[in-house]
Amino acid sequence: MSDSPHHPAWFVVLLSLCCCWTVCSPRPHHPTVPGTQPTQIHLSYTGSPTSMVVTWSTLNNTASMVEYGQGDFSLRNSGISTLFVDGGKKHNAQYIHRVVMTGLKPGFRYIYHVGSEESWSAIYSFTAVQDDTNWSPRFAVYGDLGYENAQSVARLTKEVQRGMYDAILHVGDFAYDMNDKDGEVGDAFMSLIQPIAAYLPYMTCVGNHETAYNFSHYINRFSMPGSHGKDMFYSFNIGPAHIISINTEVWYLDEEGSKDKVIRQREWLHKELEAANTPEQRQKQPWIILMGHRPMYCSNVAKDCIMDESFVRQGIPKQGMPGIEDLLYKYGVDLTIWAHEHSYERLWPVYDKMVMNGSMSQPYTNPQAPVHIITGSAGCKERLTPFVPNPKPWSAFRLDDYGYIRMTILNSTHLYLEQVSDDQDGVVVDSMQLIKLKHDSYSTRSYSGSRRDL
Ligand SMILES: [Fe+2]
Repeated sequence: MSDSPHHPAWFVVLLSLCCCWTVCSPRPHHPTVPGTQPTQIHLSYTGSPTSMVVTWSTLNNTASMVEYGQGDFSLRNSGISTLFVDGGKKHNAQYIHRVVMTGLKPGFRYIYHVGSEESWSAIYSFTAVQDDTNWSPRFAVYGDLGYENAQSVARLTKEVQRGMYDAILHVGDFAYDMNDKDGEVGDAFMSLIQPIAAYLPYMTCVGNHETAYNFSHYINRFSMPGSHGKDMFYSFNIGPAHIISINTEVWYLDEEGSKDKVIRQREWLHKELEAANTPEQRQKQPWIILMGHRPMYCSNVAKDCIMDESFVRQGIPKQGMPGIEDLLYKYGVDLTIWAHEHSYERLWPVYDKMVMNGSMSQPYTNPQAPVHIITGSAGCKERLTPFVPNPKPWSAFRLDDYGYIRMTILNSTHLYLEQVSDDQDGVVVDSMQLIKLKHDSYSTRSYSGSRRDL
């Protein structure tokens, strides 16, 4: 739960380092020093509406400072920088800076710039997350966005800068790959998304394209809340939603200790969902939304879709590795968002391969199982993934073109999402309204809706 996160070491250090004061006296002039210019600036949400993390890179080491305020630079915080060396032959190095902007007034607009007295960035702005469980946060949601063929980026940039979203959810697979060309592809990708990610929290989960050098590019470049640095899973509350990000790569590592990682994540998720599903917690955050990179169900021509069983869903029983679908069902997860397959697919409510619609006429009104959505076609050099010709009955809608999701949590009972086709000049090609008059465990209900066994 984000109320008591296990913050990584850098986060604790940052908070202890942070000192916020009014800038009231002139500072001595410092000339710009080569290699200290901030690049790759991006925001992430801490889980507290009064704070926001800003992360950026410099080639040489320098101080980590941010000046910010409501239309001025009356506030100032400092943080820490970490030397990050790519694992390739060139050993390309950069300093990654993290500063927490504290003392924010929820819902208010702030300007900021980052850097040091040796070099400052341009000015950016963001709106502090609202501290209201009746708020209706708006998200752009996608996975599998690369540097080459990053088709959706122009449209997303335009929409972000028009104020259409409050946060981004990037469901794994970045840059293709961040470690490529000695990390230069990662640098280029982070600069590519800066016009998006410098203006609103860019929340992530890890995918299979981040595995190189023990996930070090992902771990170093992003600043997610919770135990991110160690395990790459975390959660946060935003408006009426509790959002959980998991690491689906634990089932695919094929290395010593991977069973421990699977079990540790499951144990964390179990406690996490148990706490999120108490009546008191669901009163505050009725929606539980889980994002992970590799889907449990999909109908593409891809190994993960056509193999007999999904590792994420059922685990790998022969190796003593459990899956997690039972937890999603037991604790009433409302929506799961996946990527990895380079296409869009909406499923009927499904559990244990059975369609469990609310009713035949209104499948997404009070469904009897989580709803799964796959959105992995933001654009990358691997292009699109075709579908198998005859999908299983749980597949409700499929589209093989480039795009992303717009999702709004309207209130405690209604969630709306739509898929935008970038190929079709921004046309909305699919939409769904999920209505939940009650958010709780599915397993305690007597089922009376439309159920179809496969
Ligand atoms: Fe992937």
